Amino acid sequence: MQGVTVIDHPLVQHKLTIMRDKQTSTAGFRRLLREISLLLGYEVTRDLELTTKTIETPLTEMQAPTLEGKKLVFASVLRAGNGLLEGLLDLVPAARVAHIGLYRDHETLQAVEYFFKAPSDLGDRLVIVVDPMLATANSSIAAVEMLKGRGATNLRYLCLLAAPEGLARFTKAHPDVPVYTAAIDERLNEKGYIVPGLGDAGDRMYGTK
Ligand code: PRP
Ligand code: URA
Repeated sequence: MQGVTVIDHPLVQHKLTIMRDKQTSTAGFRRLLREISLLLGYEVTRDLELTTKTIETPLTEMQAPTLEGKKLVFASVLRAGNGLLEGLLDLVPAARVAHIGLYRDHETLQAVEYFFKAPSDLGDRLVIVVDPMLATANSSIAAVEMLKGRGATNLRYLCLLAAPEGLARFTKAHPDVPVYTAAIDERLNEKGYIVPGLGDAGDRMYGTK
């Protein structure tokens, strides 16, 4: 699918299988999400631009590579996005963070906004939106609209699992935002859950079911 990258690294696929397993505990699920976020983060940042700066090693001066431009922003879609965020901040500790509070109304499946806080200069930064699940895409489309409404122009979307129906809707709504996912599952069920999926990511992370 145009604009969609599937991160099929064996370690990602192995960890994802354990996360899907309903026998996996809340603690195990949270730990795996953090671990997998490091691997996903490696891929989503693979082509970041570099510049050079002069440093002195103990032996000599050199022109050494360093990331170009302003610090990037991770935008976490609450609650489950925070599971990816924590590992990503281990990878890029200086990154800025945006929090986007959205939940799905269980009847309508529409995304309901309850919180938004982001750096004021989003337009100057790469914004990587993170949320493990892209199902109907109502939440991801809304999250990106909120960020664009506050000035973001350079965005990427990172998730763990996506439904084909949601991916089609998202890439149509935001063709300028590349999507990175560990897997594209079969379909959505009648309640808007990804099948085979892993269940409700927020509930599995926090033990709220
Ligand atoms: C989940 C998930 C996404 C959304 C995906 O969040 O983390 O944000 O559903 O579904 P969609 O593509 O159909 O919009 P949820 O609304 O359950 O909130 P939570 O993380 O607080 O549990
Ligand atoms: N949100 C989830 O957490 N899981 C799904 O399968 C769909 C939406």
